[in-house]
Amino acid sequence: MSPILEVRNLQTHFFTKAGVLKAVDGVSFEIGAGEIIGLVGESGSGKSITGFSILGLVDEPGRIVGGQILFKGQDLTTLAPADMQKMRGSRIAMIFQDPMMTLNPVLRIETQMIEAIQTHDSSVGKDEARQRSRDALGLVGISSPEERMRAYPHQFSGGMRQRVSIAIAMLNRPDLIIADEPTTALDVTIQGQVIHEMQKLCRKTRTALLWITHDLAVVAGISNRICVMYAGRVVEQGPNEALIGKPMHPYTNGLLGSVPSQNRRGEPLQQIEGIVPSLLNLPAGCAFENRCSNALPECRQSAPEEVTMDDQRILRCFNRMK
Ligand SMILES: Nc1ncnc2c1ncn2[C@@H]1O[C@H](COP(=O)(O)OP(=O)(O)OP(=O)(O)O)[C@@H](O)[C@H]1O
Ligand SMILES: [Mg+2]
Repeated sequence: MSPILEVRNLQTHFFTKAGVLKAVDGVSFEIGAGEIIGLVGESGSGKSITGFSILGLVDEPGRIVGGQILFKGQDLTTLAPADMQKMRGSRIAMIFQDPMMTLNPVLRIETQMIEAIQTHDSSVGKDEARQRSRDALGLVGISSPEERMRAYPHQFSGGMRQRVSIAIAMLNRPDLIIADEPTTALDVTIQGQVIHEMQKLCRKTRTALLWITHDLAVVAGISNRICVMYAGRVVEQGPNEALIGKPMHPYTNGLLGSVPSQNRRGEPLQQIEGIVPSLLNLPAGCAFENRCSNALPECRQSAPEEVTMDDQRILRCFNRMK
């Protein structure tokens, strides 16, 4: 079966006064129906810009300068802005860290949900739209949806607001959802609930989900595959268990070292020492070389290409972890 989304060698650069900033520089991955892909990396690694590129939301001075974004075989990078706008909110939906990016503070939840349905399909009547909205709220775990949908966004808690924005994202039964740090602002218990709700929903409705987070622990439990980004590139990607169980890139290993786990309880969290090189002035070699404890002389000379390993893992490293 062909994937819902295929990102091939995506390059999104910002043409700033200080020079060309390579925010995304050769990113490739795919997502199948009902699959969850976790896109993980430190702040500034290019996760959000990857998401924005797929959604056609990269603004000046940024531009997609290379690669393809195939959505059900159609290259989104060649779509006219009006067609891309139709795609958003219908076939491709998004969930942001701040649910108020989706919600209008001055309208009742019900009004916003009905509008989201009718904008997409004007043949749906008000009663049917109301019914579908009620069902969607029920699906994300909002009790008494009939009554709650008459409320305004500020009458909900942060966790409930995020559930509403998830319900809105699911309203038109999209094929793909891009969720950028959707649970980061929530407290840990609520975070866990929302994550599992999303996982259940996507499996049930066969929706593909790209889950962006800086926290590997968040996606470790729910993803089919994980892509680890560093300085605008995916340095390692692979099936969830393989990648967590046996990381091959020293950066992934470092990230895992900073995830609290049972057997490390009580020990301080490991930090990866050093700083990310400037995306305006990347070295000729591997961008992780200055922080890597396993670096070889060749790591300074050229950047490693992607290599596919036996276990469907894709790696950019000259000296993989044994
Ligand atoms: N409008 C812009 N102009 C110039 N540079 C930008 C712009 N937007 C983003 N960038 C740069 O692109 C790089 C990638 O940013 P991005 O927002 O994708 O990071 P991220 O991985 O999502 O980080 P975070 O975890 O902090 O959200 C960063 O170096 C950022 O400074
Ligand atoms: Mg971001």
